Amino acid sequence: MDTPVALVTGASSGIGKATARGLLQRGYHVILWCRTQAVAQETEAEIREDAHASATSTVGADLTNFDALRNAATALKDEHDRLDVLINNAGVLKETRETNPEGIEETFAVNYLAPFLLSHLLLPLLIRTAQTRGEARIVNVGSDAHRGAINFNPDAMTKGDAGITAYMQSKLALVLFTNELARRLDSTGVMVNCVHPGVVATNIWRGPGVLSWLVRRLKWFFRSPETGAEGPLHLATSDEVKDVTGAYFDGTDRTTPSIAAFDEKAAAELWNRSMELVDLDPGDITYDPSGK
Ligand SMILES: NC(=O)c1ccc[n+]([C@@H]2O[C@H](COP(=O)([O-])OP(=O)(O)OC[C@H]3O[C@@H](n4cnc5c(N)ncnc54)[C@H](OP(=O)(O)O)[C@@H]3O)[C@@H](O)[C@H]2O)c1
Repeated sequence: MDTPVALVTGASSGIGKATARGLLQRGYHVILWCRTQAVAQETEAEIREDAHASATSTVGADLTNFDALRNAATALKDEHDRLDVLINNAGVLKETRETNPEGIEETFAVNYLAPFLLSHLLLPLLIRTAQTRGEARIVNVGSDAHRGAINFNPDAMTKGDAGITAYMQSKLALVLFTNELARRLDSTGVMVNCVHPGVVATNIWRGPGVLSWLVRRLKWFFRSPETGAEGPLHLATSDEVKDVTGAYFDGTDRTTPSIAAFDEKAAAELWNRSMELVDLDPGDITYDPSGK
């Protein structure tokens, strides 16, 4: 089919839902990835009321459940012969420590390891699309909160950290991952960038912590989900950035991430530890357009 295809995780609310709407308005077939199939279908029905929304499909899988994520990615590869845009948007700020079946703290699981795993599982489709259509893009929705983490300790994902500390670390991990993946995909035509959407009044601030309470109280001063979606949409669709990779954006403006985000040794360590935690075999992964 000639319609470009985009996948948005966390499409049920906030920035993800606004991004999905924006992609539909720009003519994409949009795959709405939500926590369950029921929520995905509700979201699809709501978005379809929008006059522009014609081409959607749905995925229901909890991103803390890596088996469910793998099954959903396999089904996607069977159903679609192209993937032009992957937006790793889903995110959470768990204020108390909860762990997934692999013992990984859930903020890390959703905000960082799920994008790591999903991007790898969909790489063959993204690389094929870039080779046949000229480009494909991965957009990681990060956060300026990554600046609060001085350096990244790969063990933080399984030991102790929770709350805002885990959130800051997970977002630093996402920037390190963006840079490292961009380096590895250099020759493929797949562009990988990370974007801070601004402080946006969304459900992410629904928790009981002081920061969440404050944002809820002052929500009129913060960005709307539609404004928050401008950065992800720019990176996903604008010709201005079609040759940009491994970069960090604040909204639609390119900027510099924290010094810790340039630590290539930390990025390599994180990479190896992440491979183990999501049970990927490096021998099974190719970053080469020839498939070797
Ligand atoms: N809002 C801000 O100020 C801000 C600032 C910087 C960065 N960000 C980033 O922007 C992204 C979008 O967040 P948002 O502000 O739009 O928050 P949001 O309204 O809470 O949306 C988050 C989305 O992620 C989904 N999600 C969370 N955990 C999931 C899981 N285990 N499995 C599947 N889906 C899951 C949520 O689904 P449910 O509704 O089912 O939980 C929801 O659709 C996040 O990565 C966030 O870190 C936001």
